[in-house]
Amino acid sequence: MSQTVIVGNWKMHGILSDVNNYLDSLLPELSSLSKKDVRVLLAVPYTLLFTFSEKAKGSALQIGAQNMSDRDVGPMTGEIAGSMLKDAGASFVILGHSERRQYLQETDEMVHKKLVKALSIGLQPIVCVGESLKEKDAGVAEEVLRKQLIGAFHGLSGEEAARVIVAYEPVWAIGTGMHATPDLANSMHKFCKEVLWELFGKQIADKILLLYGGSVKEDNIAGFTKQEHINGALVGGASLDPVHFLHIIKSS
Ligand code: PGA
Repeated sequence: MSQTVIVGNWKMHGILSDVNNYLDSLLPELSSLSKKDVRVLLAVPYTLLFTFSEKAKGSALQIGAQNMSDRDVGPMTGEIAGSMLKDAGASFVILGHSERRQYLQETDEMVHKKLVKALSIGLQPIVCVGESLKEKDAGVAEEVLRKQLIGAFHGLSGEEAARVIVAYEPVWAIGTGMHATPDLANSMHKFCKEVLWELFGKQIADKILLLYGGSVKEDNIAGFTKQEHINGALVGGASLDPVHFLHIIKSS
């Protein structure tokens, strides 16, 4: 069995005083799991990156960010460069999450530029794709996925593409409790894989890990991770509580 990847996404939650309790519950339990079976990552707000990374140093937990600028350091008020994320201890970054696409007008081209930048500085990117309910109902989900994947990946070399993780997160399943069925999620992952095959050939595309996201909980995670084309999960709400997050990790 290949390694399962579980990524927590705290979104815009958490303050410094949360970090100790969270890690005190999570890390001792994580250390008892086999690193061969599961890889665990946590995407935290910028303000917590350094503290989380320092406290998680030497543990099995990798810390990352939820967004970054496509530019190098410079005059860009309020933005944050990937090199600054690395400096604060991030090893990965989530890009193109649907909340950013939906509420902050992030486009495929912006996601592409951020992806190129993240790869160039050695931050592992997790690129999110997924259709809205309206798009699902209109029968254009696959078209949307194809456009988002090509929009993000175009022009990358095979070596670069193989370092990316893709998270398929149907927008209608995020934070709603209405997760996709494992069968549907598997067929959408298969479709994503086929688009990646077209872009990079089978050998490279098969190295790109695919995660499911959208209302993943401890009672549904196993249904997803046993699917052929699903390598793990991106977990939002349920990652905020270390006990729930641990149950998800263990059940995966
Ligand atoms: P959720 O969020 O698990 O709360 O549905 C998933 C995500 O947005 O990454």
